[in-house]
Amino acid sequence: MKSSTIHLHTGHRIGHVDPRVFGGFLEHMGRAVYQGVYEPDSPRADAEGWRVDVLDRLRDLDLAVMRYPGGNFVSGYHWQDGVGPRERRPRVREKAWNSIETNQVGTDEFLRLSERMGWEPMLAVNLGTGTPEEAHDWVEYCNAPIGTRFADLRAANGRQQPYGVKLWCLGNEMSGEWQIGHVPPDEYASRARQAAKMMKDLDPTIQLVASGSATHFLPSYMEWDRVILEGLGDHVDYLSLHNYVGNHTDTMDFLACPQLIEKQILEIDAVCRYVQGRRKSPKRAMLCFDEWNVWYRTQTQQDCDGAGRLAPPLAEERFNLEDALVVAGILHAFVRHADVLKMANLAQVVNVIAPLLTRTDDLLVQSIYWPFRLFSRRREGHSLVTSVEGPSYTSPSHGPVPHVDASAILGGDLLHVFLTNRDDEAAEVRIALAGADVAELVDAEIVTGADPKDENDWDAPDRVRAQPFDRFKLVAAGAIAELPAFSFVAATFRLGASS
Ligand code: AHR
Repeated sequence: MKSSTIHLHTGHRIGHVDPRVFGGFLEHMGRAVYQGVYEPDSPRADAEGWRVDVLDRLRDLDLAVMRYPGGNFVSGYHWQDGVGPRERRPRVREKAWNSIETNQVGTDEFLRLSERMGWEPMLAVNLGTGTPEEAHDWVEYCNAPIGTRFADLRAANGRQQPYGVKLWCLGNEMSGEWQIGHVPPDEYASRARQAAKMMKDLDPTIQLVASGSATHFLPSYMEWDRVILEGLGDHVDYLSLHNYVGNHTDTMDFLACPQLIEKQILEIDAVCRYVQGRRKSPKRAMLCFDEWNVWYRTQTQQDCDGAGRLAPPLAEERFNLEDALVVAGILHAFVRHADVLKMANLAQVVNVIAPLLTRTDDLLVQSIYWPFRLFSRRREGHSLVTSVEGPSYTSPSHGPVPHVDASAILGGDLLHVFLTNRDDEAAEVRIALAGADVAELVDAEIVTGADPKDENDWDAPDRVRAQPFDRFKLVAAGAIAELPAFSFVAATFRLGASS
């Protein structure tokens, strides 16, 4: 059996893990909003029309932040369509996904839902067909005390107190030619700068996310980011990254693709540091990976064309065990870059490329739900440097990768260790800890299966799920366990005295 050692030291810290790295994304796309979180006709809905079963599962994921209302959708969206008495809201032909938008869910519904769910709301403004002034007015609607036009409109719509929305995205994927209102980077920078100035003049406490390169495939990749960061200067707090990965070859190659995410983080971080250095500014943009997931089976034009329908089933990706292991791999990368990566949003949360799938009277939990939950529940603390000593393999697409991937978070006297065995055979893994003794195993869970292609479906909804893992043995200066082939394990240890 292959054997790997994960070297950890309690003093070797990368950075505090921002809880907002465990965020979600809810777009007016397909059945994400209508028939996803909101379905008044479902027997699972509450009096306000929210799907209680969906909300319960989302609560269980402990999402710290929720991005809304898009995505591509936002580049043709006018927020005023979605406020006020519902019967007076316009039914419109939505432009990004060619669907019907009834506007029955809008700003007030989403922000009230966020309060109920404990999500920090993250609103994306329309810099496609929208104007900087419209963005400013939305901040006024959400955050200004009553006494002016849009704050008074909010009060007239039933909300006296400002919502205090702190996070705002300056458009979405403006670098991509598919985006409504796509422009060259200098034009985007100038448009976003005007919006940013007006928005921050109105509420200096808000934080802004600039729309970075939409994918690493773009010819303008990194150059787009440099130009917009230089143009936006100190107005910008975060730079967005997006990536959807897929299995275009075989399982072992696919399991190495979190390397791609790690490379993207390093490259975009380098651009942020470069611009900071050139500008001689004490301030740099931090990274916000505000769309990420596995998505490749349902990406064709047909999969994403609403064809004039209301709540059409778009991009309803089905996930298997290998996808869950890749999701774990991406989360390992996020934790390992906790010093610069401050936010991330799983795209999306229900029905569209999502861990949850609904039918009117039923809910399916997909495989990728589990690694997210196992990480999210153990996210408090500082990321530790993880050095993996052990065998590796060479992925044709991503180069050399260790068979065992790892990350770790130290929070008080709790050490959380996350391990993925990417191999098709069991592996012995030793955690070698310096700086403290391991006093006890608090708990451990595993996600695995007989076949990497195993997936949950309506007839077998629990084929891939987290199970308790009882194979850890505490040894001198650490712990040891045998990880099954194709598995992800999350374990929490209580530490004793420093050694
Ligand atoms: O999440 C689905 C879509 O993917 C988003 O609307 C867009 O930003 C990205 O291209």
